[in-house]
Amino acid sequence: AIDIKSLRAQSGIITIDPGYKNTGSCESAITYLDGEEGILRYRGYSIEDLAEKADFLEVCYLLIFGELPNKEQLHKFHEDIKAQSIVAEDMKKILDGFPQSAHPMGVLSSLTSALVAFNASSVNVSSEEEMYKAIVKILAKFPVLVAWAHRKKEGLPLEYGDDSLGYVENIVKMMFKKPNKEYKKNPIVINALDKLLILHADHEQNCSTSTVRIVGSSHAGLFASLSAGISALWGPLHGGANQAVIEMLEGIKNDGGDTKKYMAKAKDKNDPFRLMGFGHRVYKNFDPRARIIKKAADEVLGDLGVEDPVLDIAKGLEKEALEDQYFVDRKLYPNVDFYSGIIYRALGIPTEMFTVMFALGRLPGWIAQWREMRLRKEPIGRPRQVYIGENLRPFLDIDKR
Ligand code: ACO
Repeated sequence: AIDIKSLRAQSGIITIDPGYKNTGSCESAITYLDGEEGILRYRGYSIEDLAEKADFLEVCYLLIFGELPNKEQLHKFHEDIKAQSIVAEDMKKILDGFPQSAHPMGVLSSLTSALVAFNASSVNVSSEEEMYKAIVKILAKFPVLVAWAHRKKEGLPLEYGDDSLGYVENIVKMMFKKPNKEYKKNPIVINALDKLLILHADHEQNCSTSTVRIVGSSHAGLFASLSAGISALWGPLHGGANQAVIEMLEGIKNDGGDTKKYMAKAKDKNDPFRLMGFGHRVYKNFDPRARIIKKAADEVLGDLGVEDPVLDIAKGLEKEALEDQYFVDRKLYPNVDFYSGIIYRALGIPTEMFTVMFALGRLPGWIAQWREMRLRKEPIGRPRQVYIGENLRPFLDIDKR
């Protein structure tokens, strides 16, 4: 029973809001989201415009500093990043210590945390200048860690970046360059990845972003906060959904492709199965990113000449769900991750790397939110609770229990 007396003694009024469905944790000027209307804007610019007209590095700058960069600002930003792209050689020893079977999200989170040890000056930052230095460092080194996590998984030798390339093209080369083979630029792959990264770049106070803000609110430092955010993103109800979607679609295909059977399972309350890639905490109409990504998936598969039976299953499930009363009543629509995995597959990215790619895209959002939280001098995050445990009881000696 709730001990009302002790509750009153502890506090004034405490609201209980599991999952924080109606609790705002901060004021933010970064991302505007209207779940009913399906609107998403970064710093006032529509996601549709940004996905079509901007590149990922411009979006990083926009999210973090609030304005689209002009040519000089973008050039300087990129040069500052390039100057920090070396990752300490000893970090490779840490990577060597992981088994090849390790999930790349675990590897990425650990390596991001380990960066703290090699970049002590980036930990206790509070001035804007110190923050800027820490930000360009992580924007430079994180793609290297992503590429290493990928190459470790694939059993490929590690690569460093190529300063002559654009930000995203450099990532593509670091990930995919094969030993003893000349790297050939593929604009379809680079453009598709650029668009995916933009679509994932921020999404206001989701689970991983709230984690970054709350860890950062103890002044734990940017890299430690990001490492915590990566762990939060890993879960299948959040960023891990993109991996779970493809695994689900493959499972349906291997089981004979009967989508109706899986629709029935998803609706059965005694069955833990959920239709992965459907539903969203905030979007109750449609996810604007899903619309863009569905079109991009069609284009990329067409351009690369890939025929993927899993895409047909995805389209079939989407059609059935849109006509199904259970999904309509609960406003369950495909989310951004329903189609992102199909593009990643077509680009040759292994399934276990999908959530890592999401982390790469979300990096500027996490950074922007962390910076905003620190500049606004927000207090340490510390939710309350309503205690429902035992009242005071006498201690029992061990031989009497
Ligand atoms: N399949 C079947 N039923 C579902 C699904 C689904 N994917 N999602 C929600 N429901 C049902 C629930 O069972 C519940 O039904 P009830 O009212 O009869 O009990 C109702 O819809 C509401 O669901 P909640 O879980 O309460 O909604 P919540 O906002 O807490 O969860 C979430 C949102 C986690 C995204 C959920 O829809 C889900 O698990 N989806 C699948 C996982 C997924 O795709 N996650 C990615 C999210 S997007 C992102 O992180 C980028």
